[in-house]
Amino acid sequence: MLELRALCKSWNQPPNPARTLLAQISLHVAAGSVVALLGASGSGKSTLLKIIAGIEAPDTGQVLFDGEDLTHAPPEKRRCGLIFQDFALFPHLTVAGNVAFGLVEQGLRRSQAHARACDMLERFGLGHCVNARVGRLSGGEQQRVALARALVVEPRVLLLDEPFSALDADLRLHLRAEFTQRLAALGTAALWVTHDEAEARAVGQRGYRLVDAGLQPLW
Ligand SMILES: Nc1ncnc2c1ncn2[C@@H]1O[C@H](COP(=O)(O)OP(=O)(O)O)[C@@H](O)[C@H]1O
Ligand SMILES: [Mg+2]
Repeated sequence: MLELRALCKSWNQPPNPARTLLAQISLHVAAGSVVALLGASGSGKSTLLKIIAGIEAPDTGQVLFDGEDLTHAPPEKRRCGLIFQDFALFPHLTVAGNVAFGLVEQGLRRSQAHARACDMLERFGLGHCVNARVGRLSGGEQQRVALARALVVEPRVLLLDEPFSALDADLRLHLRAEFTQRLAALGTAALWVTHDEAEARAVGQRGYRLVDAGLQPLW
């Protein structure tokens, strides 16, 4: 379970005027639920995800995981999965190497990590390409590898930042259904950023819009 309490973030970089991006943002993402987040470009959606992941620090406010205050914990202590629009896979590694990476970081032996990664890829219908270089895969396949890599470490919450923006419309619809099914099957909580309102409504049990530095509940 993820809880945000009164998060605030401003950018202050003279000579630019100071800008408050996030003002008193509070939000619950319950275990197993998906919350959708809409918002215009530049409204601060990615910054909010970075604060949750520990890549940026808030000015004030708290980020709690399962009731534990991890506002100042490093990213690796949070167990957040991250999915970006540009896939962000490691190009020099194989598909299995990408998925095994986080498991090795968690301390699993390389052979065990590889076996778990292959098992996950099999379940994702990617068993045929475990040894392929990721650059040889299509965009849709790369994003499914990114999902497998994020989920194999059993994240407490998955953060998706416009995951399908780089893909064409048919594939977006297909992957939307596949991703939501996989999240539901694993009971993974997710905060799903998208600028596509139809996608937001299809994936999110609740939806918000980030506007004027605040969260407006939509459904
Ligand atoms: N590290 C930073 N320093 C200063 N301004 C930033 C920084 N990162 C992002 N911004 C600005 O914050 C605003 C929101 O960015 P972002 O969170 O990426 O928005 P969104 O994901 O909603 O499009 C943008 O105007 C961007 O230029
Ligand atoms: Mg963004």
